[in-house]
Amino acid sequence: MPFTSQPLRDALGFGVLVTGLAARDIALPDVRQQLHDLWIDCGLIVFRGLPDDPDTQIALSEVFGRPDVHPLKQTTNQGDIQKLVDIFFRPERGDIVKLADGQRLGAWLPWHFDLVYMDRINHGGILRPVTLPESGGDTGFIDGLAAYQRLPDRLKEEIEDLHVIYRFDGDLAGLHFGRTPGLVLERMNVGTSEIMDRLDRFPAVSHPLVFNQPETGRKVLNFSPWFSLGIEGMDQQESARILEDVTRHLIDENRAYFHRWLPGDMVLWDNWRMIHCATGIPIDQQRHMQRTTIAGDYGLGRKVQ
Ligand SMILES: [Fe+2]
Repeated sequence: MPFTSQPLRDALGFGVLVTGLAARDIALPDVRQQLHDLWIDCGLIVFRGLPDDPDTQIALSEVFGRPDVHPLKQTTNQGDIQKLVDIFFRPERGDIVKLADGQRLGAWLPWHFDLVYMDRINHGGILRPVTLPESGGDTGFIDGLAAYQRLPDRLKEEIEDLHVIYRFDGDLAGLHFGRTPGLVLERMNVGTSEIMDRLDRFPAVSHPLVFNQPETGRKVLNFSPWFSLGIEGMDQQESARILEDVTRHLIDENRAYFHRWLPGDMVLWDNWRMIHCATGIPIDQQRHMQRTTIAGDYGLGRKVQ
C-alpha cells in the first residue's frame, strides 16, 4: 500500500490517520479504491503530509465523489476554487456565543450533520485549515454507526421506523435537542441573518432516524441534534422523550474524537455517519478553513411541506 494508516486513538472504533501518501499517487486507481474503502470502513480520515494547497485538497476530494456546490455559502470564483467553501471567523464578524461561565467564543458550532436541513445530504467533505487560531478551534466527531450499537434494545426497537423533521436554524442557542446549558448567542453573523430572513427557501425536510449504510448494510443512528424539530407524525411530548433519550446516547463526548489542527492537515468524514462540532476559539483571534462538498444522495430524505 503506498500509504500508512493507523488508528487515531486506541479503542476509538472509528477514524484513521493516513501518512506517506504522495500527491501523484492520488491518481492511481488502486490507491483511489483503497482510500474509498477506508473512508466507508472507518468514517473519518486525517491526511497528514500532503502538499498544503487547494488543488491537492480538491484532487483528493474527487477520489470520494464528484464535487458539489454548497447551497448556503458564498464561494470564491477562481476556476476550481469554486469547489471550496470558505469558513471564516474574524473578530469583527462571525457568530459569537457566550458560555454559562461567561467565556465568549467564535467559530463555535453544535453537533450536526452538514446539509441535514436539505432533502439531499452530501456524502462528505474534506476540511483544511488556511489560518489557524493560536488556541482552540478543534473539530469534534462522533460516529453514528457506533452510537447505534450502544443504544439499549428497547430504544432501537422504538426508533426503527421513525423519521425526524429538520429545518435550517442559525440560532446556535435555540436548539430543540442537544442544547448547551446556559449558552447564549451574542452575535449572529451577517450571512446567517440573511438566510434567517429568507427561510422560505429552506422548507422542512424529513430523514429516517435509522438507516442502513448503503455500502455495508450496517445500521446508523442518523440524528443531528442541530436543526432537528421533532419526530414526524408524533405528539411533541412523546417525540421529545425519544429524541432526548437518543441525544443522550449519541452525544457521549468520551466516545468523540476532537481533532487538533496542524497546518496542512486534511480531514475527510462520511457525512452520512459522523456528526461533527466546532469547539470555538477566543473572539480576538481568526480562523479560516476551506471545505469541499462531496456530492451524493442516500435517497431517504424528502421535503415535508
Ligand atoms: Fe459542519
